[in-house]
Amino acid sequence: MAAPKVAVVGAGLVGLSTALCIAETCPSCSITVLSDQFSPNTTSDTAAGILIPHTYPGTPIHVQKQWFKETFAYLFAISNSAEASEAGIHLVSGWQVFKNTPKEEIPFWSDIVLGFRLMSKAELQKFPQHQFGQAFTTLRCDCPPYLLWLEKRNICLHMGDALTLRSPGSRIHTGIDMKKLFPVRGQVLRVHAPWVKNFIRDGDGLTYIFPGIHRVTLGGTREKENWNLTPDPGTTEDIFDRCCSLEPSLRGAQDIEVKVGLRPSRQHVRLQREVLSQGGVKLPVVHNYGHGGGGFSVHRGTAKEAARLVRECIAALQGSSSRAKL
Ligand SMILES: Cc1cc2nc3c(=O)[nH]c(=O)nc-3n(C[C@H](O)[C@H](O)[C@H](O)COP(=O)(O)OP(=O)(O)OC[C@H]3O[C@@H](n4cnc5c(N)ncnc54)[C@H](O)[C@@H]3O)c2cc1C
Ligand SMILES: *[C@@H]1O[C@H](CO)[C@@H](O)[C@H](O)[C@H]1NC(C)=O
Repeated sequence: MAAPKVAVVGAGLVGLSTALCIAETCPSCSITVLSDQFSPNTTSDTAAGILIPHTYPGTPIHVQKQWFKETFAYLFAISNSAEASEAGIHLVSGWQVFKNTPKEEIPFWSDIVLGFRLMSKAELQKFPQHQFGQAFTTLRCDCPPYLLWLEKRNICLHMGDALTLRSPGSRIHTGIDMKKLFPVRGQVLRVHAPWVKNFIRDGDGLTYIFPGIHRVTLGGTREKENWNLTPDPGTTEDIFDRCCSLEPSLRGAQDIEVKVGLRPSRQHVRLQREVLSQGGVKLPVVHNYGHGGGGFSVHRGTAKEAARLVRECIAALQGSSSRAKL
């Protein structure tokens, strides 16, 4: 039987990690990654890349928790290996602080991040405008390094075969349900402030300070249905002021770079099999998209599930072709 051919559309975090999972579960598959943009030009490249789950209202919590758990375990192993710096994966400790005590003092992911605890009164003195906080250690993915590492792993897995075909500029009809997908614009700043070592996130999810390997990401905004990719100077100033009120030492930050990304948002991640019919040809498709504001936190878990669905599609095709021969 010929090697099954799989095309993965998209070379952001989700496409590349899914291609890698398919290669791991189906070593005989020939995989092609097709995309109109590659790193550093994807949404994934603008993200802060921190592993703090965002909640998908349409997906059961136990499923989201499992995705997060798998993603955390996978990246934690990389962070503990010699490849950590090349892959751009590192541990980071810090605080999530709230102006008012939240309904859920202990979030569903508290036993997956490391060392989760509530902040003491003494620690909260750092944040005079906040009265409640959580302290923990999590992981951060620095992009572009992580995307480049994923690209390289995909290519290495097929060495000698040249199966990972890059086709920049190709836009492909994929059967994506555009009616249910909407952008949530996010503007962030990347600054030079090497003295900032801890992450700080306001529990409202809007203002955050996430130190990376070389730069600190300051955020942010959440603007539904706004497609504008041009940085807004007023917003830049507002983000900077909000971050300085959380961490006054940022007033000394230098070399401010501004980035804008559109979070691919939906009520829930679309992760399912479908058969598309085009010109009499039946094409099995596996959807894996709509990760919105939390793709980094769950990408490995959803990629594994997508790879499992791809395996099911291949088994179904092989079943029908052997029946056809009989
Ligand atoms: C400012 C900001 C901060 C963020 N911070 C975090 C964070 O701290 N933690 C976290 O977990 N998440 C965060 N996110 C969310 C995260 O970035 C996304 O969930 C994730 O990047 C989505 O990955 P993706 O691969 O689906 O999308 P993308 O990175 O957009 O990749 C899509 C790919 O598909 C290609 N493509 C699309 N349509 C077609 C087509 N028709 N034909 C061919 N190619 C096509 C594109 O060129 C691209 O290569 C943040 C997002 C933003 C914008
Ligand atoms: C990213 O976009 C820039 C500007 O359009 C382009 O010059 C560059 O080749 C792109 N990079 C990749 C890897 O596609």
